[in-house]
Amino acid sequence: MAAIETHDYDVLIIGAGGAGLRAAVEATMKGCKTAIITKSLLGKAHTVMAEGGMAAAMGNVWAQDNWKVHFRDTMRGGKMLNNWRMAQIHAQEAPERVIELEGWGALFDRTPDGKILQRDFGGHRYARLAHVGDRTGLEMIRILQQRSVAGDIAVFAECTINHITVQDGSVSGAVGYWRENGELIQFRAKSIVMATGGLGRIWSVTSNSWEGTGDGHSLAMKAGAEMIDMEFVQFHPTGMVAPASVKGILVTEGVRGDGGTLRNSDGERFMFNYIPDMFASETADSEEEADLWYTDKVNARRTPDLLPRDEVARAIHAEVKAGRGSPSGGVYLDIASRRDSDYIKRRLPSMYHQFMELAGVDITKDPMEVGPTAHYVMGGVKVDAETCATTVDGLYAAGEVAAGLHGSNRLGGNSLSDLLVFGQRAGFYAAEHALAREFVNLDQAQSNEAVERITAPLESDGNENPYTIQSELRELMQAQVGIIRNQADMESALNTIRTLKERARGVSAPGGTAYNPGWHTALDLEHLLSMAETTTLAALEREESRGGHTRDDFPTASEEFGKVNVMAKYDESGEIVIQQQTLAEMPNDLKELFED
Ligand code: FUM
Repeated sequence: MAAIETHDYDVLIIGAGGAGLRAAVEATMKGCKTAIITKSLLGKAHTVMAEGGMAAAMGNVWAQDNWKVHFRDTMRGGKMLNNWRMAQIHAQEAPERVIELEGWGALFDRTPDGKILQRDFGGHRYARLAHVGDRTGLEMIRILQQRSVAGDIAVFAECTINHITVQDGSVSGAVGYWRENGELIQFRAKSIVMATGGLGRIWSVTSNSWEGTGDGHSLAMKAGAEMIDMEFVQFHPTGMVAPASVKGILVTEGVRGDGGTLRNSDGERFMFNYIPDMFASETADSEEEADLWYTDKVNARRTPDLLPRDEVARAIHAEVKAGRGSPSGGVYLDIASRRDSDYIKRRLPSMYHQFMELAGVDITKDPMEVGPTAHYVMGGVKVDAETCATTVDGLYAAGEVAAGLHGSNRLGGNSLSDLLVFGQRAGFYAAEHALAREFVNLDQAQSNEAVERITAPLESDGNENPYTIQSELRELMQAQVGIIRNQADMESALNTIRTLKERARGVSAPGGTAYNPGWHTALDLEHLLSMAETTTLAALEREESRGGHTRDDFPTASEEFGKVNVMAKYDESGEIVIQQQTLAEMPNDLKELFED
């Protein structure tokens, strides 16, 4: 075999979204030789789809806010299945990370007295999201990218990692290929940080662009890591539904945070009919009362348009199913009747342009048509709350690929702060680990096997088309493992996924290694299919409804399942095993926060 381009880095970071960039900055500050690998272009990350802001209890708008309230909101949003220690660290450290970002140049919107402005979002007791109009994720990427490039961080863009090498129980490096010319590449690394984001492309209606194929989830699990919570998938309530070509594109929760309301085809503000018991005491039950929310957060009760995302997505789904949907199968989101045109254009400039250019709708005059879109996965690699270490030595994970912080449902705005808080920690501890180790020569057998797998579709004479399998999988998951699930549908989906896995062995991608997207799609299939299978198995195991996992055969939350994570990992023969793991008990001082 010809020699493969090889590089050595103390810390190798896979993924260049917010978590990866923040980890890279930290590892470099610790003196580590650091590289970031991204299969996309630098700056093009799902982070930019967190448009409305980053949640941090800074108390700039409501002085009553503090980390304890943020912690409590996060746990309740996650239906108490969160890793409480991660939720505590996140709530305590988010303000510091936001201020740090500002110090590095982030241009946040301001309060009249010059503080960082904070906006309302679902499930947050107080206006808490530091933001830059509706382009907050973009601003975060801009700043972290500048910081990384200014530091001594190597960037490998349009480079896909397909295998993590593990030797004597520790990670030793990674093998992949350059997307442009198909040349192979390998890395020796003392620590690896997985920061690859999510897997929304498993569903046909999604806010994720082509990169969100679950690579990091799949690579980490294959390297031996334990996964948890894979059954919990967040369908953001508001994606575009029309025209069909833009279905799934995100409509920021900032629209509702800034006063937008949801209505059905009868003109009814239907969210008042879907207030769950858990939130009843703090949610307004009339339009008049809900309106007070925008002026008096302390005494007024929250508008139900800003219930947590799982509640709103299910309500929209139910309205459409009951025949009260809009012509394109969504509901109406109206901001025009509450805010004037200047306000909308200033606060929501991207939404204004998005609807004008993609749908021909002027949102300063007319309502938007919106419906749920697969946006985020709460499940992923199990990590230690303090260090972001996975169950494989030397492998760390941060951001969407890591699980625990959000429990069964993430609150909007908690992802950007998650990326900063745990990106920083992952970079720090990965660097500490690397500084105490020597490089290991890559195991040639693993490297050769990875190369054979990567090049197989190019040489195959099979007659399966990778795009066909990908599209069949996505339609299947949308129909049978989507917002509302049941055992019969999921068992049928599991059989089909396994058939698709068989068929995927026969994919071919002729045309050589240069600019061959069919080949890249063929390689993505392994990740998509294995994560679809893991998600479905975990969803079958959890016989209850909670957060981003709703079953019409088990429609309520169960006490028994409220105490466990569903864990998935490969056994020695490569089969997925599923186990229930008991959650760590919350200490009394934190429990007390829920007493009222
Ligand atoms: O709606 C949004 O702007 C998305 C934010 C998030 O997912 O955190």
